Amino acid sequence: MRLSSKVDKLPYSPIRKLVPFAEQAEKAGKKIYYLNIGQPDLPTPQEAIQFLKDNIPEVIAYSHSAGMEELRRKFQGYYASQVGVDLPLSSFLVTTGASEALIFTFSVLLNSGDEVIIPEPMYANYIGFASVVDATVKPITSKIEEGFALPPINEFEKLITPRTKAIMICNPNNPTGYLYSYDELRQLAELIKKHDLWLIVDEVYREFTFDGKKHISILTFEDLRDRTIVIDSVSKRYSACGARIGLVVSANEQFMDAVLRMAQARLSPPTLGQILSLGLLRLSMEVVMNMVKEYEKRRDVTIEALKQIEGVIVPKPSGAFYTVAELPVDDAEKFSKWLLTDFDYEGETIMFAPAAGFYINKEFGKKQVRIAFVLEADKMERAMRILKEALEQYKSMQP
Ligand SMILES: Cc1ncc(COP(=O)(O)O)c(C=O)c1O
Repeated sequence: MRLSSKVDKLPYSPIRKLVPFAEQAEKAGKKIYYLNIGQPDLPTPQEAIQFLKDNIPEVIAYSHSAGMEELRRKFQGYYASQVGVDLPLSSFLVTTGASEALIFTFSVLLNSGDEVIIPEPMYANYIGFASVVDATVKPITSKIEEGFALPPINEFEKLITPRTKAIMICNPNNPTGYLYSYDELRQLAELIKKHDLWLIVDEVYREFTFDGKKHISILTFEDLRDRTIVIDSVSKRYSACGARIGLVVSANEQFMDAVLRMAQARLSPPTLGQILSLGLLRLSMEVVMNMVKEYEKRRDVTIEALKQIEGVIVPKPSGAFYTVAELPVDDAEKFSKWLLTDFDYEGETIMFAPAAGFYINKEFGKKQVRIAFVLEADKMERAMRILKEALEQYKSMQP
């Protein structure tokens, strides 16, 4: 019996790849600081959990395929007041996490063999989702020395072929933490219009910006309205990853109609997650902003500590809760595995996501790791101390 050839290209998650070694290390009694996964440790706001408890229906029924109307209206209101865009209700469709929003978007836009251009390093699941629709991701490499800024626009243009359907970015970026500027977005917008392409922007970390910098949603570019698709989620914004509630937002009616037909085929997004989300969207945005302040503190101690370690190259991210750092090692995956299997500092070690998995051109990420600053500031400080010790020991073992 044979599987579809599409799954041949489906990679294992770089975030979870080392999990078996971490399990072994834990069994051996080591304490691990998990910096590999974007699972926030902050509590999901209690008021929303209470709202869910108070509103559990007698029958956990399917909802409307596009999501409960009340929830879509709440999202519409949030987009009007927080993002600054007034869109009709038909522009919003609730999905099972941003993950399903991505699957719907790729399925609706891309034929087998079509191409989507994405700066790398990139959120690794884009590669997986493209491969299940048999589309090709054309990577364009952003560079650590440039803080992972948008590569020059003429480099994008060189990659455009008759098979190119879309350009996609993640803003702020996972894994790099880069926040795209107005000028960068404007240049992309012009290119998109010139070549009659779609622009997909994953804005799940929209609120996570630091140093007073402001996120600019692609939906505010009115001349691009008909060709933009935004991917959104409550997972990170409200520390509610398990609610599994995301969103596709687009003013293009033809696109939204096709997404609705896909949504109807899978019946409904999760009902309990939607009720929790209703509770989340009733909260003041101050709740989110307080979380962001906490992440900024964590970023500061992490970057400060990394900069003190000899041989480490790390840009200061302006958004999301990740950074990609280059380490003075031959192979960051080998080193990350060694941290779990052979190393400990006072019984403790750390777990990273080797960055090669976020690249299609793996060699660019060979010495890099993604570090998620999802632990409290003092734990991040301790983790960076452990990294320093580990790098010294690793170096002394090299021939
Ligand atoms: C950039 C990005 N997009 C999408 C997702 C998926 O989010 P969700 O939990 O809403 O499926 C994640 C999760 O880590 C992410 O980092």
